[in-house]
Amino acid sequence: MMEKSSRIPLLIDTDPGVDDALAILMALASPHHRLLGLSVSAGNVGLAHTVRNALKLCEVAGRADIPVFVGSEKPLLHPAPDAADVHGSDGFGDIGFAPPQHGPADEHAALAIARLARLHSGQLLLVALGPLTNLALALRLDPQLPRHVGRLVVMSGAVNGRGNITPYAEFNSYFDPEAAHIVFEAFEQIDVVDWEATMAHGFAHDDLAHWCTANTPQARFYDAISAKTRQWARHRHADLWHSADALAMAYALAPDAPGVDVACHRLEVALQAATRGMTLVDWQNLAGRPANARILLRYPQAEFNACLAETLSATLTDKRG
Ligand code: BDR
Ligand code: CA
Repeated sequence: MMEKSSRIPLLIDTDPGVDDALAILMALASPHHRLLGLSVSAGNVGLAHTVRNALKLCEVAGRADIPVFVGSEKPLLHPAPDAADVHGSDGFGDIGFAPPQHGPADEHAALAIARLARLHSGQLLLVALGPLTNLALALRLDPQLPRHVGRLVVMSGAVNGRGNITPYAEFNSYFDPEAAHIVFEAFEQIDVVDWEATMAHGFAHDDLAHWCTANTPQARFYDAISAKTRQWARHRHADLWHSADALAMAYALAPDAPGVDVACHRLEVALQAATRGMTLVDWQNLAGRPANARILLRYPQAEFNACLAETLSATLTDKRG
């Protein structure tokens, strides 16, 4: 087992969510990262469910020691629709699991983000898998946040305007565009995994079903909570399953995997009417503003698949500390 100090400290901001769950399990299975906590917001479903889901997932993984920080209940300015049609009304497939045995930490998610970034200044890997509300609040509390975060990876946007919640916008950026705007204006470089990259990195339903047969608590739980959304996806996207947050986590955990391809450009978030939540990318660098987004174009599919298979079969409880 690796020494605690040699692992990269990792904080995940999340709105679990079936694909968030897979991404969090990937982080727990990584021998090179130390998960410091989960900061949670509303998004896929309401905050009471996303917090409960985060707690339950940690419990199932044998990692109830990981603090879950409760964050924003709604977007900064305007109400937004949830994604219960995809993830189930409780966000975890409505399987009726027993409530988690432990509760959340007594610190707001935005405060925890700001504190942990300073505590691990220059080292922290911050991975945001939901709407960016908690991060925007943390930035307002501590405008120095970008100096302290070692690397920020976000699952957000649709870089060519092919969205999934509106024709042009992706769910996370659409849910709270003002927050996304604040974050993209504040950080000099953000690693972006968008919906279009997600669609280019599908894996076979049959493969996922096979990985879910692993004899581990997390495989059994993931198999159950993802059943409904997999059925929904089979109707919509046929043979391939897409997990936006899992792809973001794969890139977060192994950014230098051979075959990774990225492009660096200026990305801005549209806030107005019909284009609300769109991520506008200056692909030709015409506007003269510095690039703030390192956009994932290609991740090695074999590496991604292997990571998912390993995650669902790994022993997670030996990573404590
Ligand atoms: C993103 O939105 C949510 O539904 C998923 O959890 C993912 O973070 C995909 O658009
Ligand atoms: Ca998410």
